[in-house]
Amino acid sequence: MCGIVAYIGKKNCKKILINGLKRLEYRGYDSAGISFLNNSSGACRMKVVKEAGKIKELEEELKNIKADGHCGIGHTRWATHGEPTRINAHPHSDCTGNISVVHNGIIENFQEIKKELKRKGHKFVSQTDTEVLPHLLEEYNSGDLLVAMQKLVKKIKGSGAIVAISSENSNEIIGARLASPLIVGVSKNGNFLASDMPAVLEHTRNFIIINDYETVRLKKNSVEIYDKEGKLVERESFKVNWSISNAEKSGYPDFMLKEIFEQPRGVKETMRGRLANGNLNFDEINLSKEQIKNLDKIQIIACGTSYHAALAGKQLIEKWAKIPVEVDYGSEYRYRDPIVEDNCLFIAITQSGETIDTLSAIRESRNKGAKVVAITNIVGSTVARESDSVIYTHAGPEIGVCATKTFTAQIIVMYLMALYFAKIRAIIGQDFYEKVIEELEFIPNKIQDILNRAEQIKEIANQTYKFRCFLFLGRIYGLPMALEGALKLKEISYIHAEGYPAGEMKHGPIALTDKKTVVVGIMPEGEVYEKLLSNIQEVKARKATIFSIVTKGDNKIGQYVHYYFEIPKTMEEISGILSIIPLQLYSYYIAKNLNRDVDQPRNLAKSVTVE
Ligand code: F6R
Repeated sequence: MCGIVAYIGKKNCKKILINGLKRLEYRGYDSAGISFLNNSSGACRMKVVKEAGKIKELEEELKNIKADGHCGIGHTRWATHGEPTRINAHPHSDCTGNISVVHNGIIENFQEIKKELKRKGHKFVSQTDTEVLPHLLEEYNSGDLLVAMQKLVKKIKGSGAIVAISSENSNEIIGARLASPLIVGVSKNGNFLASDMPAVLEHTRNFIIINDYETVRLKKNSVEIYDKEGKLVERESFKVNWSISNAEKSGYPDFMLKEIFEQPRGVKETMRGRLANGNLNFDEINLSKEQIKNLDKIQIIACGTSYHAALAGKQLIEKWAKIPVEVDYGSEYRYRDPIVEDNCLFIAITQSGETIDTLSAIRESRNKGAKVVAITNIVGSTVARESDSVIYTHAGPEIGVCATKTFTAQIIVMYLMALYFAKIRAIIGQDFYEKVIEELEFIPNKIQDILNRAEQIKEIANQTYKFRCFLFLGRIYGLPMALEGALKLKEISYIHAEGYPAGEMKHGPIALTDKKTVVVGIMPEGEVYEKLLSNIQEVKARKATIFSIVTKGDNKIGQYVHYYFEIPKTMEEISGILSIIPLQLYSYYIAKNLNRDVDQPRNLAKSVTVE
């Protein structure tokens, strides 16, 4: 939540900050601002420009403002304390206007600090928690802003990435990380601080991760990182293979559509190196064969879309590897005093690697002795660093707020893991193992086949977008996809949608169905197909409009439903990864018909770093 970008170097910072903020807008988009140090008249002066609304409002405002500064900080906000107004937008300043601060996170003890600062005469103008930070820096500053920041880090409770500049020293930017992401980008033209790599990918692919409670002094030619005790630490930069096209729309109207179309590649990349020559290599899981054989239970923790990937994983791990799996929301798990048993493996799934609920659940379980394997898309993310081992999905950066390509990459990891465990535990034979691998290798092409027929889905969306109630029904492998299909539709179209086990309809939800309802049935061929057909008939009899996802060659579905879309044939157990693609497209086209902003849906943010 909230995005930060900062630059110091040879170039003018205005454009760099605005472009960086645009790339971070997925983290928050209700207000934005930048501060920079202007040196034009000999004296160094702080200039702060901020606006309510999206970055383009800020950009408009900046058009008439001369900026020759080479040092500046920027912020895009997802409001927590105080409404999204201009006054509450970051950067915030101290009483003198010399210090300017941006912050991502929450300061839990800000009321107490604010009272203390007010007693000392500090004047506040906003309702934010962040505003205490520049005033604290003002209090602590005796010539070295880094030392003041180190004192500040000890004073505040909560989470945060904080970046500050002072007009008393235009040669440095000071940063600190409590528990929200902060990375350094290193380049020959200057250095950057940012919440996420895409913000500065157009300038550098060399990064350094800042750890919790570390502080950093950034100059145009140097980066100094200090640990919690204030000791200088040596840390090499690493290079990422993401390219700037990952952070651009590349001709697509939105990131969401681009990312849906990137799924064949994301899935292929996630399998690469793990599936080769008919074999599965999963050493990165860091568990011995003996440990895998002795597993009595797996506990998976995740939120939102990642939770649905966890449900899909549970089904296959239980079916193929015969290990009982419990799936829990991070936000529930951490507060229910969970039991961590011996021989229980803990898996956390999070595309961003920063979701606070998942992270807190990891901390809770590790405190109780659990071993945690993280599945994430972000190298060096907090979850990756706080887990015992990490399995990276290689979906590439996902900018659209709505998770699409990271979901299918997570699903592939779950399939591979289930197969790997099943093989090691000798539950499945060689023939079955090879058959699954062969099927998995075809998945990217099969996804492509669906994408090639996106126009068919668009047409169905054009016919149905005016409905106001959608029920997504599935059974077994289709159920996590029904839940995910409903979530996609809700979040980007703002239409009420429910995902439901089809067999449960008659226990209540069928009362909802009437001629104003669309029922989306996820019904690829398999064990429960006939049952689903009956469930669909039940809702059709109540006058609902029916749209079914079926397997190619289903020649009877046409007589039962209003619309259908065919997915390629595959093994029933892994059909979910194909079923979700038309559902993502369906939500996308419905939302576009309604003129929604699919990349930045209202009230949402990409990384949920607050509880
Ligand atoms: C839905 C979506 C959210 C996230 C959830 C967890 O499209 O993006 O539901 O899935 O906030 O995020 P991660 O996976 O980053 O932990």
